[in-house]
Amino acid sequence: MEFEPEARPRRLRTDGVRPLVRETTVTPNDLIAPVFVDATTDERIPIESMPGHERVPVEEAVDRVEEIADTGVSAVMVFGIPKSKDAVGSRAYAEDGVVQRAMGAISAETDVYLIGDVCLCEYTDHGHCGIVESSAATDPTLTVKNDETLELLAKTAVSQADAGADMVAPSSMTDGMVGAIRAALDDEGYANVPIMSYAAKYESSFYGPFRDAADGAPAFGDRRHYQMDPANAREAIREVELDVEQGADVLMVKPALPYLDIVSAVRRSFDQPVAAYNVSGEYAMIHAASEKGWLDLEETAYESLLSIKRAGADLILTYFAEDLADRL
Ligand code: PBG
Repeated sequence: MEFEPEARPRRLRTDGVRPLVRETTVTPNDLIAPVFVDATTDERIPIESMPGHERVPVEEAVDRVEEIADTGVSAVMVFGIPKSKDAVGSRAYAEDGVVQRAMGAISAETDVYLIGDVCLCEYTDHGHCGIVESSAATDPTLTVKNDETLELLAKTAVSQADAGADMVAPSSMTDGMVGAIRAALDDEGYANVPIMSYAAKYESSFYGPFRDAADGAPAFGDRRHYQMDPANAREAIREVELDVEQGADVLMVKPALPYLDIVSAVRRSFDQPVAAYNVSGEYAMIHAASEKGWLDLEETAYESLLSIKRAGADLILTYFAEDLADRL
């Protein structure tokens, strides 16, 4: 046969040259590890749908964080499971709340960069991310009361900063949440505490395992009236833009793998650092397939995180953080 290719990209795929021309890398510095602290237990409880992860009692929060730091990951995001829940999520902003106690100990005893998830869904008895209309349980068209929720989110963020949080990350998709939290932090002397906004957070089925882990499934209805419709991309840019105007320092897209187009679009549209949340379902499905022997756990996990970075994320929240950092 006469034909010869004009170009030979394969020249740059030998083992010698591949590392030199590699465009993307993942390092432990890119990763944030989620941690679950549970006020209802005095021993560690494995999270069944997230193999390798546990809810730990407050007393073990420091140990848990040190395990993570030992792998080379130096940032953690803390989620709390409170002892009691009520209609207004008051344990989310209590001075002696589960997250506040854990943060106090972690900030006093470790050097990790400490990030707090700011939301009410783990703390409300109805499981929604804010205050709900009284008849919401029977009327599915009703939803979280936006403006009344802002004040509670601001209180939660300030209480986490009081406890030693280095950064706060509001995840409730309440309109105006970044502005309200920025104003409250500034008022309380926390002008230097950055906000990583869950700016484009979708109403996703991939959160399933997390809702087991953090016990935050809504008691009725779903989150479609406040989290974004998975069908929308332009709306994500609008959402992110609003958060930038309100002072967001880091812009998060969540979930990650099914939304890489959004990660990429946010990267191109804004100059702030972009974070992506490789969520519980993304973790669980790779584990499930690897347990069946259908996928290689380590390789698929690494390829996932590499893809998220390639799409434009600067930092990644991931349940693979420790395993990956350990291996790198
Ligand atoms: C709280 C919150 C959720 C997640 C992070 N923060 C749950 C939700 O919105 O339903 C999901 C994280 C994951 O699935 O790994 N609002």
